[in-house]
Formats: sequence, structure tokens, C-alpha cells
Amino acid sequence: MTPSATRPARIRKAVFPVAGLGTRFLPATKTVPKEMLPVIDRPLIQYAVDEAIEAGCDTLVFVTNRYKHAVADYFDKAYELEQKLERSGKTEQLELVRSVLPEGVRAVFVTQAEALGLGHAVLCAKPVIGDEPFAVVLPDDLIWNRGPGALKQMADLAEQTGASVLATQNVAPEKTASYGIVATEDFAGRQGRITAIVEKPKPDVAPSTLAVVGRYVLSPRIFDLLETTTPGAGGEIQLTDAISALLAEEPVLAYRFQGTRFDCGSHIGLVEATIRYALDHETLSDAAREVMQKALSELGVIELT
Ligand code: G1P
Repeated sequence: MTPSATRPARIRKAVFPVAGLGTRFLPATKTVPKEMLPVIDRPLIQYAVDEAIEAGCDTLVFVTNRYKHAVADYFDKAYELEQKLERSGKTEQLELVRSVLPEGVRAVFVTQAEALGLGHAVLCAKPVIGDEPFAVVLPDDLIWNRGPGALKQMADLAEQTGASVLATQNVAPEKTASYGIVATEDFAGRQGRITAIVEKPKPDVAPSTLAVVGRYVLSPRIFDLLETTTPGAGGEIQLTDAISALLAEEPVLAYRFQGTRFDCGSHIGLVEATIRYALDHETLSDAAREVMQKALSELGVIELT
């Protein structure tokens, strides 16, 4: 790979597509967007935002639809609540409320008028991103790691190489039709240059079992390519199809991140994430272990020792 002549820029902007309907979580998502579903005490969108801020982003672009006010309300300043907490001396809670969006970080909301697909959602952010590399974070994919977050790992790699970077992990062969699947050159450590990418291929035609999960660092060239991308899998304008065009022009790396990814767009994924965060929680872990053992033993799943 040829590194760019000038040192590539650090990403500063992250796009969060949050316009989806979240039908898998009905009836909860009748009034609460799926990105607002909590794991312990924070909504999924907060984990995604924290990961982007840790990676160095100071501009967060939420691509939303006209019905979704909850995400915007959540990142808005809560004057009355803050005043109440301040007056009653609840400084710890006040800090929690304020830390939703740290100082120096701005949230920008862009409306996607029609649900035309992930690629279209990303294209809606073009006026805010402009001509610089940026991140896309899908809040459904929650990535737990004790060390640096997945996006920070990817931003570091993008900065070193000047390449676009996609988070990837191996999935079971029968699961390829749920993901973008890549073919790569040989891996060097955690990274391998992508040679092909296909959206949701059936197992018999999938180029591998290496799946893209919801973290991308992309060159701004993707916007030009998205503008001419026609509807693909599921009749939607797919980000994967524009990436397929991008990799003919520029290096795009698959990156096996450090961390565990939970698919919080599925019921069991959200349960699994909750268990993991509870077991790893500063104050909840002992109690979480106890209630889990109790539940398993009462249901006759394990013998209590
Ligand atoms: C989207 C992308 C897909 C990617 C997946 C990761 O699909 O289109 O390429 O593998 O996110 O979660 P979705 O899950 O929105 O159908």
C-alpha cells in the first residue's frame, strides 16, 4: 500500500445513522427509539458516542427521521433537571447528566426524509462532513473492550496508513446473509486489504465468513460514489456497494478489532450485552453474579454449589 504523500488527518467527525424503525423491539420501540434502549444505565447511543469521542471525534452527526425526537432531546441541555440536581446538592448525578455530551463536543442533527438505506443515510451527512475522513458508527453494534475502544483502534490505523478501515469479525457460515462480507489479501497482524465486499450474500456465494460490523472509517470519496449508487440488496442504497466502488480506487482495510461485539439489534444480543456489562461493572458485578446463579438454579439449569 502506498501511504498518502501528506500525513492523513485524524478523524474528527462521526456519523450515527439512527433513522431506523427498530421493528424487532416492538412494542418497546413504539415510543422509544431502539438507540435509546439501555444497557444498565446508559442508552445504546451513549456507548456509541463515548466510543467516538474517545477516538478523537468532536463533531457528532446524527442522521435521524422526523419522528425521532428522543435522541435529540437526550443530547440537549436539560436545564430544569440540572438546576434541581444542583439545588439539592446531587453533584454526582449532575455530573452524569452533564457528561452525556462533554464540553467541546457538538451534536448536529440531519434528517433523512425517506428510509432509503444505510448508504443513503450516510450520504445525508455529506454537508456536515465535507472533504475529510470520517467515522460511521452503528449504535446497534455495541463493542465491549477493557482497553481502547474499537473506533480508536481503527482511527489510529487509518491515521497511520491513510486507508479507509472497516471493523470485521468472523461469523458462522450460515450467518453471512445478515452482513456485509469481505474478501481480503493475507492479513498482517489485525489488518488485511479488502479485495471484494458483498452485502448480505447467501452462504453458498459468500466470498468468506469475515463480516463487517458497525464501525467504519471512510475516505470522503465515498460521498461521490454514494451519489451514483443504485439500490442493491433489499432494494436499499447500500453503503457496502459504495465501498465496493471505493476499493477499486483507494486502499480499504479490514480490521479485526480487539473487543467483543454484541448485536443489540437482536433480543439475545441485548441480553448478552447486559450480562457482560453487569458482570464487569464496578459496583454491580458481585450482585449480578449472584442473581444469575440464582436464576439458573431456580430454573433447574445448574446445580447450586
Ligand atoms: C449493516 C450493513 C452491513 C453490516 C451490518 C453490521 O446491515 O449494511 O454490511 O455488516 O450493518 O451490523 P444491517 O444490520 O443494518 O442490516
